[in-house]
Amino acid sequence: MCGIVGYVGRPKSLEVLLGGLGRLEYRGYDSAGVAIITAGGDLVTRKRAGKLAVLVDDLKADALEDGSTGIGHTRWATHGGPTDQNAHPHLSRDGKLALIHNGIIENFSVLKAELLADGYTFESETDTEVAAKLLGREYDKGDGLAAALGRVVVRLEGAFTLLALHKDEPGVVVGARRNSPLVIGLGDGENFLGSDVAAFVEHTRRAVAIGQDQIVTITPTSVLVTDFFGTEVEASEFQVSWDASAAEKGGWSSFMAKEISEQPEAVANTLRTRIVDGAVVLPDLGELDAELSDVDRIVIIACGTASYAGMLGKYAIEKWARLPIEVQLSHEFRYSEPVLTPTTLVISISQSGETMDTLMAVKYAIEAGAKTLSICNTQGATIARESDAVIYTHAGPEVAVASTKAFVAQIAALYLFGLHLAAVRGTLSPEAIGEALGELSAIPAKLEQVLLTSTRITELAKWMSDTRAVLFLGRHVGYPVALEGALKLKELAYIHAEGFAAGELKHGPIALIEPGQPVFVVVPSPRDPNSLHAKVVSNIQEIRARGARILAVAEQGDAAVLPFADEVIPIPLAGALFEPLLAVVPLQIFAMELATAKGLDVDQPRNLAKSVTVE
Ligand code: F6R
Repeated sequence: MCGIVGYVGRPKSLEVLLGGLGRLEYRGYDSAGVAIITAGGDLVTRKRAGKLAVLVDDLKADALEDGSTGIGHTRWATHGGPTDQNAHPHLSRDGKLALIHNGIIENFSVLKAELLADGYTFESETDTEVAAKLLGREYDKGDGLAAALGRVVVRLEGAFTLLALHKDEPGVVVGARRNSPLVIGLGDGENFLGSDVAAFVEHTRRAVAIGQDQIVTITPTSVLVTDFFGTEVEASEFQVSWDASAAEKGGWSSFMAKEISEQPEAVANTLRTRIVDGAVVLPDLGELDAELSDVDRIVIIACGTASYAGMLGKYAIEKWARLPIEVQLSHEFRYSEPVLTPTTLVISISQSGETMDTLMAVKYAIEAGAKTLSICNTQGATIARESDAVIYTHAGPEVAVASTKAFVAQIAALYLFGLHLAAVRGTLSPEAIGEALGELSAIPAKLEQVLLTSTRITELAKWMSDTRAVLFLGRHVGYPVALEGALKLKELAYIHAEGFAAGELKHGPIALIEPGQPVFVVVPSPRDPNSLHAKVVSNIQEIRARGARILAVAEQGDAAVLPFADEVIPIPLAGALFEPLLAVVPLQIFAMELATAKGLDVDQPRNLAKSVTVE
């Protein structure tokens, strides 16, 4: 979950590294550091606990000599707390080599014991320093940095991306990866490495994905990718489809505010070119498309917000394509010894495409012989590349740690797939598919309308900034929305929040209701074919009778809710399955505004990181 940047080229390493780290800070932000080979051939480093701004201020107060070769790191602590000593880079024993790391080296204590027995001493509590010391020892064998790295990585267990440089090899940065991301950026007289393309998109949009268990060596004019044993491998170049400005705040108070406002576009871009003449067109599925008619069961795997998108996918795809679907949290999936066959389709959902729990679950599914499809927002990400096929959500870069626009784009992609599957299986008529696609295509404009109601939610959030607990209720597709509303509030405002299926209340949670308890209720449309509206209105009455303060997210013109709600947040009319795409937005805004009212950093909430690349 750390962010990694490497650079070789012009004598401006510091500028490139700090710029890249700024864009990667969402990956981890408890300390940051850089190492540079100066024009004079010295290896210099600086690292500081705290956000990147602390390092930047430190460098302003006490400048570091610049050079044309450098590596930079922003950390999310695993082994050892967020201190100056534990920050990366870490050095070899002779101080000539610097190394940064993302991931966890699971066998680090065995390796550390070996080094201690050899007389090595350590300055930090990290697993990374062990890799730095090992690499220094191997380098001394004299066959160069890449060969030394090859000998080290085959001894490491776990997940890692490593970047290193050595003062005796100016103009060279080497990297290696296993189950952790690393991408190359191709420049003109300069080359880049990054945890993702955001690290270098300001300088180049030409990128090369590096496969598992590969080593890369960059110089200003060359890029060499090999396996761990030095055999050259082919690597494919791709063009980054967004530019640096897409990852800038552009006048918004936070990335989260910007990303919430980009939701209409995120859905529209995900649908673009995939609906033609009232039918779904998904060339993205490639060879998997021909195998879809064999699929007899779907398992959706994901974590956090993505798993709530998966729950919505289950309601829709099961209804449209008449297939049994389960949704499992990726980290629980493989430990339940799931029954997977060649006719099971495992759909993974991941914004980053690098979430370790989901990646491991996908690998498990592949080994078990299941078909795999990834719904992913990050081009060239590991999960997308491991899967049989990928439907990219074109939400653009999501920088704020809390997921917003990726969520609605994930739902749109799942719905597209569900309608396509219904066509393949003949479970919906072309007219019914066309009608559902019409609903989906109308969502971006309706999202624009929802965003216009945000002022009232901001006021509500300000009044409620002292609130200690909030409950969220929903039924059917409103239930995952309730879970997502609660998750957003927990992670951003650090307030205890729970989401419940409204029907479950009477089985226990209603005991939580006491006078004044705020409860958000996601109310189904009165036009809902399952007649859930009346049941939810009854649920509202039950908790109101016990003193709850009701904040209802309800369809415009829903007169039945008005007498029982303290506050109604209206959303435009939409078909039952499509309401979640609209109802979630006020809950996202509420969490963001309440956190802002409490003076919290909504883009980088405490203890979290955007891309969870450890298990
Ligand atoms: C919550 C949030 C997380 C992610 C989860 C999966 O706001 O962002 O719950 O949804 O960590 O991440 P991805 O989608 O990158 O696999």
